[in-house]
Amino acid sequence: MPLLEVAGLRAGYGAVPVLHGVDLEVEEGSNAVLIGLNGAGKTTTLLNLAGLLRGSGGAVRYNGVDLGAMDTAERVRRGIVLVPEGRRVFPALTVAQNLRLGAWPRRRDSRRVNVNLGRVFELFPRLHERRDQLAGTLSGGEQQMLAIGRGLMASPRLLLIDEASLGLSPKLVGQVFAAVRRINAEGVTVLMVEQNAGVLGSADRAFLMQKGRIEYAGKGSEMLQQETLRAAYFGD
Ligand SMILES: Nc1ncnc2c1ncn2[C@@H]1O[C@H](COP(=O)(O)OP(=O)(O)O)[C@@H](O)[C@H]1O
Ligand SMILES: [Mg+2]
Repeated sequence: MPLLEVAGLRAGYGAVPVLHGVDLEVEEGSNAVLIGLNGAGKTTTLLNLAGLLRGSGGAVRYNGVDLGAMDTAERVRRGIVLVPEGRRVFPALTVAQNLRLGAWPRRRDSRRVNVNLGRVFELFPRLHERRDQLAGTLSGGEQQMLAIGRGLMASPRLLLIDEASLGLSPKLVGQVFAAVRRINAEGVTVLMVEQNAGVLGSADRAFLMQKGRIEYAGKGSEMLQQETLRAAYFGD
C-alpha cells in the first residue's frame, strides 16, 4: 500500500477549476518529485494535501486513511508537513524561535523537540551558527534551510516541499537537494514540487504535471530520457 494515494483529485479557487483529476501515488520511504511549469497546479496540489485547500472531487488516502475533510492540524499530527512556497519564515523571530514554532504540534513532547532540534542543527550547521539571529536577516538559501528545518521539527512522515530551489544559486540548490536526500535516507517520505529538472536524477518517482493533470509518471532518471517530454517541458 502506498503511503499517499491521490485519485482523480479536483480542486480550484472559487469557480475556477485548476486540478482536473490528478492521480499519483507515493510509496513509503521514497523520494518523489512533482515537476511542471509555472501555473501547472503543483502548489494547488500540495495545498490540498496539507488540508489548506478543499478538493471538489476525487480522493486522497494517506496510510490507508481517507483524508476527506480532515483539517490541517490533524494531518500534521499524523505526519503530513508542508514546507511552503516562498519559505514563509517569521522574519522578526530568531532562527531558534522559528524552529521551535515548527515543533508546536509536538510541544508536549519536549524530549522529541530537543532531539529534532539537534537533528536540524546537524543537518544544517549554518542554522546552528545563526540560531540567535533574526530570520529576516538570513540569505535566501539560509531561509530555505530554515523553512525545511521548521518542517522537520514537526516530525514529518510525509514531507511536502514546494519549490525549495526557487531563486537560489546553483551551489545552494545543490546543498538544499543534498539535504533533502539525506532527510529521505533517514526515513522520511518526500514529495518535492520543483521546476528545476536537476532534481530528477535522484528522484525514485517523477510526475510531470501540465494544466492540472499528470501527463507522465515514471522514474526520475527515465523521465530525463524521454525525448517527447523533454521537448514538451524543456523546449528542446
Ligand atoms: N489564490 C488563487 N486564486 C485564484 N487562482 C489561483 C490562486 N492560486 C493559484 N491560482 C491559479 O491556479 C493555477 C495553478 O497555480 P499553482 O498551483 O500555483 O501552479 P504552480 O504551483 O504549478 O506554479 C494558475 O493558473 C494560478 O493562476
Ligand atoms: Mg507553485
